[in-house]
This record gives sequence, structure tokens and C-alpha cells, in this order.
Amino acid sequence: MTATRVPVRLRVNGENYEVMTFPYKTLLEVLREDLGLTGTKHGCELGECSTCGVLVDGKPFLSCLALPLDLQERAITTIEGMAEAGRPHPLQVAFAELGAAQCGYCTPAMLLTARALLDRDPSPTREAIRQALSGVLCRCTGYVKIFEAVELAALRMRDGAG
Ligand code: FES
Ligand code: FES
Repeated sequence: MTATRVPVRLRVNGENYEVMTFPYKTLLEVLREDLGLTGTKHGCELGECSTCGVLVDGKPFLSCLALPLDLQERAITTIEGMAEAGRPHPLQVAFAELGAAQCGYCTPAMLLTARALLDRDPSPTREAIRQALSGVLCRCTGYVKIFEAVELAALRMRDGAG
């Protein structure tokens, strides 16, 4: 039997999209292949690495485990939507300054997960940062630079210098 494409409406980074796609494709696949938003990365596709992480209604969400048809009323944020008004988010600046991104494969999900943390807790402890980011696997940095970058961004955002 041949699969049929269906219309899917998605709101991504504040933009409305309507795509014709296969109903079995995951959000990860539709973001990358149908919308061209390749900042979201393929990893295990088993829900174990969080490399595919995006935000849905402001909360971390694994795009490899979700079907877009179930997310038509939700606000999806990918790394392409993290900069605002043409300016990088303070987390992006801090990650670049402190070398918290090395190969960069985990970085989109790491940044978005950290943003969700700072949106709900502007002054997280090191332990809270560690907990929030614990599901996002990074093979390069050893995490310390990532934690320091989140702390630096939080400080600048509290000071209004972000
Ligand atoms: S790709 Fe590993 S959790 Fe989604
Ligand atoms: S920077 Fe390479 S996996 Fe995290």
C-alpha cells in the first residue's frame, strides 16, 4: 500500500507553516526535511540522547519521538528561533565566548534546554543547571564549560546586559 501525504499545520519560531507530508514522519524529520530547519539534529532517535531537542510551549521536547499531527496547536521553537531581533540570545553569546560548543552537535538542544531553564529560573544553582541539562548528551565538553556558560548568561540576563 502506498502512503499518502497529509496536510500538517505547524507553528514554528512564530511562523505558520502548512506542509504536505507523510503522517508517519516524526517532528524531527518534518523540521529538517520538509521545513529545512536543519539545526535540530538526528541522534539516537530512541529518546535517549536529546540531540533532537526543541521546545514545545516553552518546554524541552524530544522531536524524534513526536508526530507533527499531534502538535498542530502548539508553539514549537527550534534553534533557528533562538536569536531575537537579529541578536543572538545571551546563552549563544556565552557558549561562544567560553568554548561551550565544540563539535556543536549537541549545542542546539543544549541551548534550548538551557533557555527553558532560565525562563523558569533566572538564578539556577549549579546543581539545577546540571539537573536540567542532564538528559542532553555531550561527548566533547565534559559539561563544565556548558555549566559556566549558562551561569554567565544568567548573570548577564539578570543584570540586563544580555
Ligand atoms: S535523537 Fe536521541 S533522543 Fe531524539
Ligand atoms: S559539543 Fe560535541 S557533542 Fe557536545
